[in-house]
Amino acid sequence: MTTTDPSLSTSPIGRDTPRIDGPRKVTGLAQYTSDYHFPGMLYGVPVEATIANGKLLAVDTAAAEKMSGVRAVFHRGNIGRIFRSTPAPGFDRVCEERRPPFEDDVIHYYGQYIALAVADTFEAAKAAADAVRATYAKEAPNVEAHLEAGNDPPVVLSTYGPVERVQSKRGDAEGAFANAPVKLDETYVTPAETHNPLELHATTAMWDGDSLTLYDSTQGVVNARSVLAQMFGLAKENVRVISKFLGSGFGGKLYPWTHVPLAAAAARQLGKPLKLVVSRKMMFQSVGHRARTQQRMRLGATRDGKLVSLMHDYVYHMSMLDDYHEDCGEATPFHYSVPNLRVSFARARRNIGATADMRGPGAVPGLYATESAMNEIAELLKIDPVKFRILNEPKLDESNGLQFSSRHYVECLNTGADKFGWSRRTPEIGSMKREGLTLGWGMAGAAWIAGTFAAAANLQLRDDGTVRVACATQDIGTGTYTILAQLASQKTGVPLERIVVELGDSLLPDGPISGGSLATSSVIPPVFKAADQAIASLLIVAVTTPGSPFVEHKPDDLALKAGLVFIKTEGPARGVPFGDLLRRANVRLVTGSGSAEMTAFASNPKFSKHSFGCHFVEVTWQPEIARLRVSRVVTVMDAGRILNPLAGRNQIQGAVVMGMGMALFEETIYDRQNGAPINSNLADYMMTVNADAPPIDVTFLDYPDKEINELGARGIGEIGLAGVAAAITEAVHHATGVRVRELPVKIEDLLT
Ligand code: MOS
Repeated sequence: MTTTDPSLSTSPIGRDTPRIDGPRKVTGLAQYTSDYHFPGMLYGVPVEATIANGKLLAVDTAAAEKMSGVRAVFHRGNIGRIFRSTPAPGFDRVCEERRPPFEDDVIHYYGQYIALAVADTFEAAKAAADAVRATYAKEAPNVEAHLEAGNDPPVVLSTYGPVERVQSKRGDAEGAFANAPVKLDETYVTPAETHNPLELHATTAMWDGDSLTLYDSTQGVVNARSVLAQMFGLAKENVRVISKFLGSGFGGKLYPWTHVPLAAAAARQLGKPLKLVVSRKMMFQSVGHRARTQQRMRLGATRDGKLVSLMHDYVYHMSMLDDYHEDCGEATPFHYSVPNLRVSFARARRNIGATADMRGPGAVPGLYATESAMNEIAELLKIDPVKFRILNEPKLDESNGLQFSSRHYVECLNTGADKFGWSRRTPEIGSMKREGLTLGWGMAGAAWIAGTFAAAANLQLRDDGTVRVACATQDIGTGTYTILAQLASQKTGVPLERIVVELGDSLLPDGPISGGSLATSSVIPPVFKAADQAIASLLIVAVTTPGSPFVEHKPDDLALKAGLVFIKTEGPARGVPFGDLLRRANVRLVTGSGSAEMTAFASNPKFSKHSFGCHFVEVTWQPEIARLRVSRVVTVMDAGRILNPLAGRNQIQGAVVMGMGMALFEETIYDRQNGAPINSNLADYMMTVNADAPPIDVTFLDYPDKEINELGARGIGEIGLAGVAAAITEAVHHATGVRVRELPVKIEDLLT
């Protein structure tokens, strides 16, 4: 474990720091996208296709147009031009459903927008949308759950660029598997899952001449600006996207969906601000979901527990037109030492809405399969699963020969085992009891990417002694406002209550998406550079202002600490508050700007950069009444330096709760008749609720990763979900003897 550098002892970094935006949220002052109202604002409600495959022959809007309060009903014939957006280099203009709304008359999925009713009130718009009649040439939809590999070439396009279908390969995986003394060959299935953040997707669009402003529930204002600018043929500076507070997103709000250009196009036609809020039902249809996956795992090992072959071949479903790649093999090539390995994927097109990033995309379903297979082969070997993992700990990233920037996975495993009491586990099925309940204990490992996105920031030191830090990133509920304030405080010594944070507005310096668990790591370099530049500017004021106590000095002789400017050789005791210096000079503020390039996904990295972790889970099982509960979770994370452990634990606990949902509840089910997601509401799509959540003990190892940024912080938004489902299914097996390899685990699976 590391200890805090004593020279940073007054630093807010590494301290439990309550959210600076907390009071605004709990008092209702925080404005979420759909809370904004503008004079003359109209409401738009989309009309959804009720088939999943076929052609739209006609849209009858006559009845809807005559209804009271209705301003217009838009469709392909009258919406005006909406252009197609295309990807740009460097993680810009990312979009997961590229076809502009209403571009053609082909229906590819249930819920595809076919019209938009606009009225003075939401109620009138909804009634009008319901009154629109569509006729279709209907064909049978393909929503088949079983996935057969499609006929794809060796290299396919994805949202983020071309990818090889054989993702990683070393040695002779087939041959080594054939000759392995102990083998496992099993297929693991994860269902389609739908993002269900509390806040619905919402957009309010308004035009001023050729300038478009969008209040949008987006995890990426800068990216949304680029996409929308292209869709309306505008210069980027003519588009502004604002996203001040989000009721989370889980990846579903990373990139613009079709309702966003639809709202903008309708607002353009009517010359009024227009608000469009996606319904909970539409959230299941037209704003992305996590792909269904089917993953064949073949593991071969020696009898003493050394992996000799690992094959991970998977298929996922995807929509008819889009290219989202569910990268289940993301963590497979480096997680364990194995000389012979192959990771490959195939795709199966379905009549469904676009698949998309969802918390821990790829790696989360992937690690469910790989970690489940690790547990199963450990059982075949009669080796404890913790010990088995330690036996196969790699010395370096065997997929590329690089050293890990910082990897303490074995310490995660040992710490977790100690905290959980794992040594008391008896491996026989149903052998552990407590108070009349059968206990099941299971564990699994986790990994997630690390790095930074390109980012810029601006920092002001002001004459009232306050600091303003600005960056066009977002706070999706994860604590980014607080992190930015902590960073500004770290550099200036100004307490958090005198720091103003501005984010969520594309007018600010370009910031990263709130995604990939990379926002925190990405904003550190630009904020620190901006602070250094602002401080340098302040010190020039200090030595050049007549009457300043520092006029005899050079800027280099001075420093800023705890908000005081002082002479380095004298120390801060006789320092002067920086606000006093600025007031004396009649300077309202000094500013600094900083920016940094993207380091994530580099083509020639020097180190293999990832976070690691593990989960230990206890379930209780009552066979008499078939009741399964998760009763206890211990999680250990090696995620670099943790800037705010309070928010960090909160992130990991939330992710574990979501992992329980993945293991036991969540599943989007498609109707074979019409292709609709049929459980498209919060009663039928089950998620973990408070009553399900057990005590979750989170430990951070807190090793700084100096290859990432100055503070050594990686990210923690997603890794907490990775591995949870594999740990739970292992615990279920330990309690019940039933191996469930298709999520979610259902009670009927356990009735043996
Ligand atoms: Mo995360 S799926 O990158 O919001």
